[in-house]
Amino acid sequence: MLKQALKYYKPYQALFIIDLLCAVAVAIIELLFPYAISHIVDELLPMGKWIEMIKIGVLLLIAYIFNTFLYMVIDYWGEKLGMYIENDMRNDLFTHLQKMSYRFFDNNKTGQLIARVSNDLHQIGTVAHYAPEQLIVASSMLITTVIIMFSISKLLAGLILLNVGLLLGININFTKKMVNTSRELFGNVGEMAAQLEENFAGIRVVQAYSYEEQQRKSFQDITLEYCSKQQEGFKRVAVCNGITYYVTKLLPVLIILTGGWLTLHQEISEGQFFSFILLTNMVLKPIEMISNFVARYPKGIAGFKNFMEIMQIEPEIADAQDAVEVDKLKGEIEFSNVAFSYDEGKPVFSQLSLEIKEGETIAFVGSSGAGKSTICNLIPRFYEIEKGQIKIQGMDIKKIKLSSLRKQIGVVAQDVFLFSGTIEENIRFGKPEASEEELWEAAKKAMLYDFIQGQPKGMKTVIGERGIKLSGGQKQRLSIARMFLKNPPILILDEATSALDAENEMEIHKALKQLSLGRTTLLIAHRFSTIRDANRIIVVDAGGKIEEGSHDTLMQSNITYKKLYQLQQNGKAS
Ligand SMILES: Nc1ncnc2c1ncn2[C@@H]1O[C@H](COP(=O)(O)OP(=O)(O)O)[C@@H](O)[C@H]1O
Ligand SMILES: [Mg+2]
Repeated sequence: MLKQALKYYKPYQALFIIDLLCAVAVAIIELLFPYAISHIVDELLPMGKWIEMIKIGVLLLIAYIFNTFLYMVIDYWGEKLGMYIENDMRNDLFTHLQKMSYRFFDNNKTGQLIARVSNDLHQIGTVAHYAPEQLIVASSMLITTVIIMFSISKLLAGLILLNVGLLLGININFTKKMVNTSRELFGNVGEMAAQLEENFAGIRVVQAYSYEEQQRKSFQDITLEYCSKQQEGFKRVAVCNGITYYVTKLLPVLIILTGGWLTLHQEISEGQFFSFILLTNMVLKPIEMISNFVARYPKGIAGFKNFMEIMQIEPEIADAQDAVEVDKLKGEIEFSNVAFSYDEGKPVFSQLSLEIKEGETIAFVGSSGAGKSTICNLIPRFYEIEKGQIKIQGMDIKKIKLSSLRKQIGVVAQDVFLFSGTIEENIRFGKPEASEEELWEAAKKAMLYDFIQGQPKGMKTVIGERGIKLSGGQKQRLSIARMFLKNPPILILDEATSALDAENEMEIHKALKQLSLGRTTLLIAHRFSTIRDANRIIVVDAGGKIEEGSHDTLMQSNITYKKLYQLQQNGKAS
């Protein structure tokens, strides 16, 4: 873990070293004071050397000016160093998460992930620069002070060492326990974020079902749990701070009594006694430093542990070592003996084989949940197959670079996801470098031209989060315009018109038909009028069985097909 942490200091080595040097210098200068007092009491006072004392005073003041400057450097540059490190970690985490597979996102709540990136890393910056700095300052202060102390009185120094050891033990033990508490707290924050994210995304459903009260209660439950976890932490901090406080007060009293006795018996001089008292304060300073931070350290460490936990998850789907870049592929697709399951032991397919020729339109028909969408998810490698092979133009898709594979495939699905932003930004997803002309061309082909022209801001119209300001038909047209721009040789239409009204369906059907010209098209639709456009029909049955045939043969041979067809005819009739 330390090695991973050090990696993040590397780019800011110079800043880090400056910060540490300043911290050490500050600590050394702080030690001048007890040294000066010992000198004044023992040598200057008995001889009445007032001028010498003034000189020492002036020297100390100058030293403190220097220290003031150093403290400012530590505060500003040190915090900046921490900020850079926190920022790098946050960006690395985001980049890493972008590479995660669909399966990872299926199994992790969005809110939790948002909290991992935003909340958990929050204390890392501060801890990143204070921790090494304080470790070095505190240990160098402790060691120097204890050495000076031993040169004065072994008994007193021993006494102090014992107490300091006790305090350090208590603080280290506390930090360890608090790291776990903090990780649990972060889990609670993530849960809160997840609930909020889901609630706001689904606010229309919540309000339509008057489900506000239940939502409020379940949110309250989460906040209560968060509070009780926090309380646990407060209790720990209180106990740790309490013990630390008492021991730090106990120590000077012990020193005064023992030192007083030693002075009375002339084991040590009065000056040595005074400087010992001041040295005791010097010993306590690093302890104070640590206990001031005691609430932050565990949060920083917990954040880093959570960070590393995700960073260590290898993306399930990634480029093979020998993966190649492909340019324009022809759209031949071949599945041979493909086995796949979302959840272990529940295979969607155990031995799926099928062939699709270049430029063909294949319709997939089947009951809901049979696995039609799954077939389409496997081709762009959104999910990894367990056995068998999928080839495009004779090449195993695992041997093709993911990004170039996905450039060859366009998916238009039933639920369109649009990003907050403008119409233009959303269409550009298909081809970021597209010219103005190309954008309009795509919009025209997707039958969006009139709509965009009708908007006061045209292409620059803002469509709201997830495209909420558009109608279902407009959203679908936008996603089709995206696809015209992307221009992939393989096209997957997964119930693309299912959520639309009859008028939109007709129009979009026309646009899709144009889109599929000259491309290999996998068409999932339940309207038999659409299916008839296909060159071939494949019926997908639960259990991964497939049967291929023409409409007429399937009506004869396939019960599922016949049932689905009749259901629709009956629907039309009624
Ligand atoms: N992301 C997922 N995680 C787990 N199971 C899934 C997931 N997506 C679909 N399934 C399950 O896999 C089966 C096939 O689903 P799907 O391919 O979407 O069917 P459809 O033929 O209706 O498109 C269904 O039983 C469904 O419940
Ligand atoms: Mg489906």
